[in-house]
Amino acid sequence: MKDTPIFLRACRREETEYTPVWIMRQAGRFLKEYRALRRRYDFLTLCKTPDLATQVTLMPIERLGVDAAIIFADILLPLEPMGIDLEFSKGEGPVIHNSPSTRPEVEALRRIEAEEDLSFVMEAIKAVCRELKGRIPLIGFSGAPFTLASYLLEGGGTKNFIKTKSLMYQDPSCWHLLMEKLSEVIISYLNAQVRAGAGAVQVFDSWAGALSPQDYREFVLPHSQKVFQELSPDVPRIHFATGTSGILELMQEVGGDVIGIDWRIDLGEAWERLGYNVGIQGNLDPVTLFGPQERIERAVGEILEKAKGRPGHIFNLGHGVLPKTPEANVITMVEAVHRLSKR
Ligand code: CP3
Repeated sequence: MKDTPIFLRACRREETEYTPVWIMRQAGRFLKEYRALRRRYDFLTLCKTPDLATQVTLMPIERLGVDAAIIFADILLPLEPMGIDLEFSKGEGPVIHNSPSTRPEVEALRRIEAEEDLSFVMEAIKAVCRELKGRIPLIGFSGAPFTLASYLLEGGGTKNFIKTKSLMYQDPSCWHLLMEKLSEVIISYLNAQVRAGAGAVQVFDSWAGALSPQDYREFVLPHSQKVFQELSPDVPRIHFATGTSGILELMQEVGGDVIGIDWRIDLGEAWERLGYNVGIQGNLDPVTLFGPQERIERAVGEILEKAKGRPGHIFNLGHGVLPKTPEANVITMVEAVHRLSKR
């Protein structure tokens, strides 16, 4: 179908005229216009006000020339209706003030109804889709059970995952109960986003690379697999994590039409390990975007060469775009992807 947007065709491993590209965190964070809006509203207010979230989602589309939009929201939003007190503090990232640490506290976490409890996200998705008119698709997203559990248990970001892994090792039955509850929330949240109009979904297991392959298999795989099994098959599903060289095949076993990788692994090798019956997304180092421009073009060309023009490559950064990234360099990257991949 010629009318299907190029990003969706690539997710289904169909031939495309060029390689589609979008970037993680393209909406929030680095755009001047976004930062201006952020001076007037805090982050959660932006997420919870559909008009504002719609505006932010659309900001990078024309400006950057990307092939997909991503809804302006956050992986941590579903934790609030579960009974979690969530705050985004200046400079520190997310902070959770009432992390569960005992079995009764895990049992007390609410099982949410995404359509009602996160209705502001669904309203923003509907409004964005009305504006995009099918020209490019909107990506919905969620955290994966492990990455959400880590924020929940640690109370924020972490380097060593001590509380998370301690619960796994010391009280596996409580760990599995928590993962089962989170999986249910994620399934409800993602399928509600698809019903609202999301044309693809991405599951962020950003920190799964912190686990040994054995622990990933025992403590994470069954839950993430359940999420992918229950996800609507009507839209492409992207499964993303970082630092995945040790768990790449396990991630594939979990599920996803497209596997997202970071720059620590060679894209050609990763795709060969996965096999060509799955798509691949990535994998430019976000720091490349600080320049110089010739280097950006060269690095883009090298990644495209590794993908060898095979259907199923979606160009992206290996992780989110960094604050203070020069906008002009992002445009250079998008243009280079489109120009150098033209078939
Ligand atoms: O393009 C977009 O902006 C899409 C929306 C989006 C946000 N967060 C908005 C956001 C997406 C896809 C996310 C995903 C997300 N959130 C992940 C997975 C991706 C990844 O980076 O691994 C994670 C781990 C989070 C949790 C989170 N949210 C952190 C750690 C932080 C603080 C640090 C940071 O990265 O800025 C946030 C805040 C956040 N989420 C911002 C944005 C635009 C910055 C908020 C601000 O304006 O101050």
